[in-house]
Amino acid sequence: MSIAVGTNSQVFLLSTGNTSYAFGIDDRGLVRHLYWGKKLPSADELEMPVLTEVSTNDPVFEITPEEFPVHGGLRYKEHCLKVTFPDGTRELVYRYDGYDTEQGDGWEELVLHLKDEHYAFRMDLHYKLYPAYDLMERTVVLKNEMEEPLQIEQLHSAQFHIPYENLNFSNVHGHWGAEEQPFTQRVSYGKILIENRRGTSSHNHNPYFILDRDATETSGEVFFGALRLTGNFSGVVEQTPYGETLVQMGINPHDCLLALEPGQTLTAPAILCGYSATGFETMSHNLHRFALDHIMSAGLRPVLYNSWEATEFHVNCRDQIKLAQKASELGAELFVLDDGWFGERHSIQNGLGDWYVNEGKFPNGLEELIDAVKEQGMKFGLWVEPEMVNPKAKLYQDHPDWIYHYDTRVTDTSRVQYVLNVTKPEVQEFIYNMLDNLLTRYDIDYIKWDANRPISQTGPQRDIWYNHIQFIYHVVTELKKKHPDVLFEACASGGGRIDYGILGIFDDFWTSDNTDAYDRLYIQNSYSRIYPIKAMRAWVTDCPNFLSGRVIPLTFRFHSAMMGSLGIGCNILKFTPEEVALAQKMIAQYKEIRPIIQEGAFYRLDNPSADQYFLYEYLKGDKGVLFAFLPQSKVGHRGTTVRLRGLEEDARYTVHTSQGDIVKSGSYLMDHGLPLHLSGDYASVLVQFEKNQ
Ligand code: GLA
Repeated sequence: MSIAVGTNSQVFLLSTGNTSYAFGIDDRGLVRHLYWGKKLPSADELEMPVLTEVSTNDPVFEITPEEFPVHGGLRYKEHCLKVTFPDGTRELVYRYDGYDTEQGDGWEELVLHLKDEHYAFRMDLHYKLYPAYDLMERTVVLKNEMEEPLQIEQLHSAQFHIPYENLNFSNVHGHWGAEEQPFTQRVSYGKILIENRRGTSSHNHNPYFILDRDATETSGEVFFGALRLTGNFSGVVEQTPYGETLVQMGINPHDCLLALEPGQTLTAPAILCGYSATGFETMSHNLHRFALDHIMSAGLRPVLYNSWEATEFHVNCRDQIKLAQKASELGAELFVLDDGWFGERHSIQNGLGDWYVNEGKFPNGLEELIDAVKEQGMKFGLWVEPEMVNPKAKLYQDHPDWIYHYDTRVTDTSRVQYVLNVTKPEVQEFIYNMLDNLLTRYDIDYIKWDANRPISQTGPQRDIWYNHIQFIYHVVTELKKKHPDVLFEACASGGGRIDYGILGIFDDFWTSDNTDAYDRLYIQNSYSRIYPIKAMRAWVTDCPNFLSGRVIPLTFRFHSAMMGSLGIGCNILKFTPEEVALAQKMIAQYKEIRPIIQEGAFYRLDNPSADQYFLYEYLKGDKGVLFAFLPQSKVGHRGTTVRLRGLEEDARYTVHTSQGDIVKSGSYLMDHGLPLHLSGDYASVLVQFEKNQ
């Protein structure tokens, strides 16, 4: 049993393979946090400290580590929940009302029932344990059992307490073309807020927290959590004056008001959380394994070709067929037709909303291209941006009231487009039917779903920030019921929708519009801390890169993109015979190592050299792959030492280097390591190895 209840039934100890989390109910009925860290043996050893007021200015609520602090009373810290009851009362006073447990395949759940002492309002705190992954999912389910609606002004899904000060907090910052830029800052007194207010985007911050005590990849304590929500999230970290650090995360209260109607329940977005006593690598491995086994759709991802960077809006059937034939010759398995195939879509000026095939570009319909793609034995994918409309589009001309707007204000366009109010039933019907018709009429295997601007001028509704994305989740879930084999890629101007809310509903992430192979090493490294490799779409594109202007050898570009789910975005019709041969070789090699890349354990290896080597290892069963990159050889032109990880100490491994095979023990490869010397600019190697039988 992973859930242990103390003999007095007031203390709960939740354990996974290596970790424990504990809380209890005190004599006032407060749910108080007791522990989060390495595994503890027994619930009976846990004691509930007696609360005494330090002074009138340090009320007990401020000092008490509550599991789910609500607004009300002498509480002044961040609270998880603030509701306004029908009579205007804004204070919540909860009482403990028992618990339930549930069990399933690989998980156990504790549900703690709380109810308001006066109003017919319930809060159930959920703790779902996945012992094999050292992970827990926390959420709260709210239920209005009154006759009138109540308003929710603030809903963070859970609060966590870390019994230390001066922790390091890590997240990412960034913008379009520069997603996933990591930062770490020391937590001190005061608060750190990370959030998104744009509705469609996570280019800037990402909905997770990592708090560590000077951890490294392989040592030190790390507390982490990832929110399962896309769009407007917020997360607050606060070091209190009482010797601990709080962190909570959930729906962003900015401009948000949710009504809970009589009889209605609301489940807050879950937080997938865990503790590692052995550094960041364990955190990543646990999240990656969980994502592969419990969140993502099964199966290896196909090598795709996407024609966007090759043709942009200059789409026509003849050229797309030529690209498809070439892509197939190289070894691609999926051909994706990006923007520009529909309506009067010749630039960003028009077309969005008019989802009919452009006859000028496809005089014999889309079938001609799809048939040609299928003849090559490839799957077919299509780009859509269903939440948007151009002002010039017929859809907007017919339905100007379908966009988010205020009647008395001018609505801003961005990328010459408006956002459809997807909370309107008629818009929902339009989007579902449009996609269902496309998927029914055409033999489509893959949808790249884009969203290229933030939401603004939402109209009087203040719930759209939350409900907009709920509809996107809903419509894709419904479409998949009818079209179960179609994979969906989540794109929002690049990596604007990378989170654990959308993953599982969608299958892949478009990681960034920045396809520069060197920039991508940084983006991919930081992405890999939290998110699984299989979902990380990475393309090889042309040089000079459209964004960075860099010219990087094709081998380096391939190696960088082979670190994720490989895609090709070059104008392959311009490839020289040498480039064709190299691409064929690389794609064939990728297919061979794909299970290790997409489903293996991923290691960010240490680089002991003064030169800037990027070293990564993938391991699955007896087989492994090493990637080494040296973007620029610097004065001194030093080599490095590659110390592999995760091997069996006593086993012997054969490493296939370009100079021949090397046979060494796991211990040797992990502790002594192998020398590696790359030279020149943008040098890279891919080395395969395996355990000897
Ligand atoms: C966004 C996407 C790109 C591409 C274009 C098409 O920028 O991120 O990959 O699909 O839109 O307009």
